[in-house]
Amino acid sequence: MTTSECRVCAGTVVEFCDFGKQPLSNAFVRPGAPDEEYTFRLAVGACAACSMVQLLEEVPPERMFHAGYPYLSSGSAGMRRHFRDFAEHLLAVELLADEGLVVELGCNDGVMLHRIAEAGVRHLGVEPSRDVAERARARGIDVWTEFFDTDLAARIRAERGPAKVIYAANTLCHIPSAPAILDGVRDLLAPGGIFVFEDPYFADIVAQTSYDQIYDEHFFYFTATSVARMAERHGLELVDVEHLDVHGGELRYTLARTGERPIASAVGEVRAAENRTLPAGPDELRSFQAAVDTSRRELVGTLRTLHSRGARIAGYGATAKSSTVLNYCEIGPALVPFITDSTPSKQGRLTPGSHIPVCPPSQFAARAPDHTLLLAWNHADEIVANERAYRAAGGRWIRYVPRVRVS
Ligand code: SAH
Ligand code: TMP
Ligand code: ZN
Repeated sequence: MTTSECRVCAGTVVEFCDFGKQPLSNAFVRPGAPDEEYTFRLAVGACAACSMVQLLEEVPPERMFHAGYPYLSSGSAGMRRHFRDFAEHLLAVELLADEGLVVELGCNDGVMLHRIAEAGVRHLGVEPSRDVAERARARGIDVWTEFFDTDLAARIRAERGPAKVIYAANTLCHIPSAPAILDGVRDLLAPGGIFVFEDPYFADIVAQTSYDQIYDEHFFYFTATSVARMAERHGLELVDVEHLDVHGGELRYTLARTGERPIASAVGEVRAAENRTLPAGPDELRSFQAAVDTSRRELVGTLRTLHSRGARIAGYGATAKSSTVLNYCEIGPALVPFITDSTPSKQGRLTPGSHIPVCPPSQFAARAPDHTLLLAWNHADEIVANERAYRAAGGRWIRYVPRVRVS
């Protein structure tokens, strides 16, 4: 068991769960020429002082987010709908009759901003991963290929003026220097402006044992309690919070400069619920590691039993999340010979660490596996509906969140 210094309050982070050496979750390997894979120790702890849950070891951002970063936000119809709804909400509620500027951190391929751009609203995307930023630009979005930090916030303010809305989906939790970045956010906001961000909710991770949310890119595992405390230290206030069903359960947090916006009743309600139900600190959270190990035992047991009976098994969705599952459970090509994924730049490559070939969806139907491990379980409704024919022909799905089951 190890400790580290809290990135929020400089208190002591005490480890409660360890996944050992892990590769980078989005570093897909070229077959034949496997590069020396970078590894780091994936372990999670909670700060005894401010309760923020965070990784103990940090991967340098440039190693993860670079020109060839493969993840495309527009790869799921459900997520396209989710971000369009949010853009419509901004247009209808926050940006009505306003010349306001919208800044998005980690805009990826423009899944949200393209609607804002289409409506003719002033906007700026900040996206350090070049290829995905290019895709956003091709859709008419103004993007800077940079990492957002306090210096960049000042540059944006100088060149574009203050922002009415700053938005970050599945991005703030990726930034180990997020607490410092909040100073930049505060200074970039126009009076009455808001910073809205959404990330996997730690309470859902605990409740569902969805340990695959824990990987290199997810440095922080937020709760309303830890976010409210972090915000206070930087002249910001948590004014609203909303639970989202996407990506296995997230919270959407709205911050404003202290005193500038009324605080919605949901903030107190969610914090009270966390007080009642979430394990209070690292000692209590150690039961999470036990739940993870039970889940691993059940999944590996199920796969081995099926394999020994001659079943042909495949994986569906070469997700970043699946990297933790495949490597922690030591599932390789002997058990799961291929994984299908719709992302062009993942196809033809091997999964990081576990070295399972990634194939295009066309091969899924052609190879007709008996059982398929649903690695993109957060998109289950969409995938199971699209692959109706697979189930109708007798194919079975294997899930592992919240429990291992074959159906
Ligand atoms: N918002 C999208 C993308 C999430 S993936 C969605 O919800 O689907 C996280 C994105 O954040 C990546 O595209 C990555 O390149 C970007 N990112 C990482 N660090 C960043 C930083 N410091 N500033 C802005 N974007 C960052
Ligand atoms: P995510 O869970 O991080 O959003 O990643 C989803 C992955 O699954 C991404 O690599 C795209 C892939 N995918 C498919 O291959 N088919 C699908 O129908 C969907 C929704 C996703
Ligand atoms: Zn702390």
